[in-house]
This record gives sequence, structure tokens and C-alpha cells, in this order.
Amino acid sequence: MPERKPACMSLPRVLVTRKLPADVEARLKRDYAPLLNEEDRLFSAGELAARAKDMDAVLATVTDKLDAAAINALPESVRIIATFSVGYDHIDVAAAAQRGITVTNTPGVLTHATADITLLLILGAARGAGWGEAMIRQKTWQNWAPSGPLGTDVTGKRLGILGMGRIGQAVAARARAFGMEIHYHNRTRLSEAGEQGAHYHESPEALFAQSDILSVNCASTPQTRGLVNARTLALLPEGAIVVNSARGDIVDDEALIAALKSGKVAAAGLDVYVGEPDIHPGYRGLSNTFLLPHLGSATRETRNAMGFCALDNLDAFFAGKEPPNPVTP
Ligand code: DGY
Repeated sequence: MPERKPACMSLPRVLVTRKLPADVEARLKRDYAPLLNEEDRLFSAGELAARAKDMDAVLATVTDKLDAAAINALPESVRIIATFSVGYDHIDVAAAAQRGITVTNTPGVLTHATADITLLLILGAARGAGWGEAMIRQKTWQNWAPSGPLGTDVTGKRLGILGMGRIGQAVAARARAFGMEIHYHNRTRLSEAGEQGAHYHESPEALFAQSDILSVNCASTPQTRGLVNARTLALLPEGAIVVNSARGDIVDDEALIAALKSGKVAAAGLDVYVGEPDIHPGYRGLSNTFLLPHLGSATRETRNAMGFCALDNLDAFFAGKEPPNPVTP
């Protein structure tokens, strides 16, 4: 933990919307006057606004839908929303800016955990970890069988990374160790040194056409929402694999489920979904899906780091400095 702050007359009041790791809550209690959520209940926008009465800050998470209405319902006292996440698509940042509310996030600290989960999705989908585990649990495993069911090798396959930011690059580094050939599309092309031999594609469509395995690693923005749809899935090679550890709404569920049923997409590995935790029911019945419940950042080390990063943002803000991780509309 960083040094204790000098005692002052009154500590900033922070509404903490979810139960956070113990070390993070300890630092919160030491440096702030927090209103914690011991029971880890999910609050409606109305309840959130009521709990935010007289608060200086809201420490939010991805489960808080802070749209314009929710932001506008917050009391005048709230001056900063620090989200315990790198993604901030759950916050209407423009509405916050209009209210003069600063928004911060936690980039960098969950890169490796999320890249690890992405590799788990790739391997899990390619090697049939979903149906394999189900055979054990449901006692349907008869014996070792030479002819099937079978998965597919990842070695030598073209991995198409949609979104080559920190996480995309960390996925590429891991995939190289598995002998995959890296392709990517990103708004901005990386430097030659940053590419490390990866093949750049100027459009998502060009990337899809070259992706035996497609990994979605971009942020959810108006430009990327629904980008994996019937039209773009049709561009993939037959029997491609699709994985998503970014955000559910980048993928059109109906289109992916249809492609999984037809065999156009051989398997999918998903960690994020539209409407979490009530995911599209079509995924559950498919044996060629490997499904995780949004575990990308779910390690003790990473969740602590996310909490400390959110607190660093609050510390800077209440010290009258620019927070290290502001997000802008
Ligand atoms: C984030 O930080 O945006 C992640 O989705 C949480 O795991």
C-alpha cells in the first residue's frame, strides 16, 4: 500500500458500488470515507443515485449501467466516477463531461490476465474443452476414440486479432509461442518493431478473410458494435474459430449461433456476452462453444491491481492533480 495520506479535516466520500477485494477496501477505509457494499448487491440506477447522496465520488464497475439518465440522476456533490475496469462502455462519458464529472478507468493492469483468458478461449474452442468436460461431468465418455470427436490444431494457423492494443499485442505474444501466424486489424497500424512480423490488414473484412482463428480484442465503440455479424462471418474461411474476450455487443449473437450451427464457424470461445449474465440461450445448447462467465480479469493479483489503479485515480483527483487514467468522450 502507498504511504498513508496526511490526516485532514474531512476525507472524500466515495460510493463503492460493489464489494471489492479486501486490500482495496482496506486502502479505501484508510484514505476515504467510503460507503461500501458489504452484501455485494446490484443496485438499480435509482438506488445508486439515492446512495450517492452527499458523495464526492463513485467507484463503479462494469455492472453499473451509467447511461445519461443515471448520470443526470447523480447528486451535484459527485465530481468523479472511477471505474474499476478498463472498458468504460457502461458509462456515458459525454453525459458525465456535460455534468463536469471526471471519469477514469484502469488500463494496463489487466492486460496479461485478459490475454491469458483469450488463449484459454482459443485452446478451449479449438480442442473441444467444452464438450470434453461435459463428457466427464455427464458420464458420457465411453473410451479413448481414434476418430472422434476431434478438435483442431492451433499451431500453424492464422490468428486474426481484431484490435491490436495492449491486450491484442499480449495475445499475439502468447500465440507466437504456439506457432500461430499473427494477422491484425487496428485503427492505427503498429510500428514495424511493434508488429514483430504480424500482417496488417487495412479493414476488418480483409482480416476476417485471412483468419483461421478470429480473436476479438477491440473496445466496444459505435464503430465496433455488431462488427462480427452475418456479413463479416461469411468472409471467414470455412470452419474458422471465433473467440471474444472484449465485449459481447461486438458480436451479433444470432449470426454467430447460425454460423456455429451450419459449421461455417467450427467453434467459439466466449467470455463476454450481450445482457450478461442472461446470455443468448442459443449458446448453451451448442456443443461447439466453450463458455466462461466474464473471467478475463478475474485473478487475485489483477483485481487488486485494478482496485489500486482506481484508487490512484481518486488520490490524484482529490489532491488537485490530473488523474493518471482519465477517459474522454
Ligand atoms: C474490464 O475491465 O473492462 C473487464 O471487462 C473487466 O473484466
